[in-house]
Amino acid sequence: MSRRKGKSSRELGLELAAICGKHFFKLENLHYGYWTLDLSIDLANLHKAQEQYTDFLISHIPHEVKTILDVGCGTGHIAKRLMDAGYNVDCVSPSPFLSEQVHALLGDRAHLFECMFEQLKTDHRYDLILFSESFQYVGMGKALENITDLLNAGGCLLICDVFKVVPSAVEGIDNGRNGVMGGGHKLQKLHDLIAHHPFELVKDIDITPQTAPNLDLFDTAMKNVAAPALEASLDFLNGRYKLMARFLQWKYKKQIERVYAKYFNGKRSAEDFRKYRTYRFLLYKKLYPHFTSISTVESHKKPALCCSTK
Ligand SMILES: C[S@@+](CC[C@H](N)C(=O)[O-])C[C@H]1O[C@@H](n2cnc3c(N)ncnc32)[C@H](O)[C@@H]1O
Repeated sequence: MSRRKGKSSRELGLELAAICGKHFFKLENLHYGYWTLDLSIDLANLHKAQEQYTDFLISHIPHEVKTILDVGCGTGHIAKRLMDAGYNVDCVSPSPFLSEQVHALLGDRAHLFECMFEQLKTDHRYDLILFSESFQYVGMGKALENITDLLNAGGCLLICDVFKVVPSAVEGIDNGRNGVMGGGHKLQKLHDLIAHHPFELVKDIDITPQTAPNLDLFDTAMKNVAAPALEASLDFLNGRYKLMARFLQWKYKKQIERVYAKYFNGKRSAEDFRKYRTYRFLLYKKLYPHFTSISTVESHKKPALCCSTK
């Protein structure tokens, strides 16, 4: 199974998020938090909000599920929680950096496929395939084919992730603003694609209100920590190594402008997130194939449906 060769900027972003999150805020996960009303929106509470997100996910797993494939398992902490709850879990991780953390955390308790999900080949079959904030990274067409193959009949697909929505009032007018916030497939595109696969949507929960506060936290951290740190570094360079500083600012002008435009523009806010994105918990059930002969129907009657809703 091949790994990707170069490191993409998104992969680098995830690695930096894992390092900074763990170092500064004791974060174990890479997902958004689930902010309930009793939790004040503060960076110091992000680890609690992340735990609440994992609790939310686990509480919605249909009770017949026994085996789970955790795709894009990040640091492996959700997989650990799932195993502690009694599930048999395998993981997929294309990032060598994150895979090392998964090995350190899980040892040989879980099989880790170190590849992109689109390239995964295995004879294993699962009751549930989980994409916790990792669906936005996969090519949807190929991923849906793989998911169909890797799920047992009656198995479930659970996607909990950010999607793009373009409010009709701003369609065509405000697209530049919409583009400022990266991430997420178009929700409508997922609906259109999955219609060609044997799945039935059994739960669709909009958790945008509970996840949007993360954007304000991120914006505050960029304004109060990252921007002053960057300014201070540039001032230091300008004072000490004037020529080199000028050369670097000239050489990396475009990249520096891009970073400012993307992260310090004040538009990655909870308000914009609510407007242009939706964070959805989507649970699908894989349908049984249609059978033509009575004997085939009889022989396929036995397996229990994994996705009966609670
Ligand atoms: C935002 S993190 C989410 C991690 C974890 N699931 C969580 O909820 O904390 C995205 C994860 O998707 C993984 N990923 C990115 N591209 C992928 C791909 N093509 N196939 C499988 N996983 C991928 C990353 O390595 C990372 O583990």
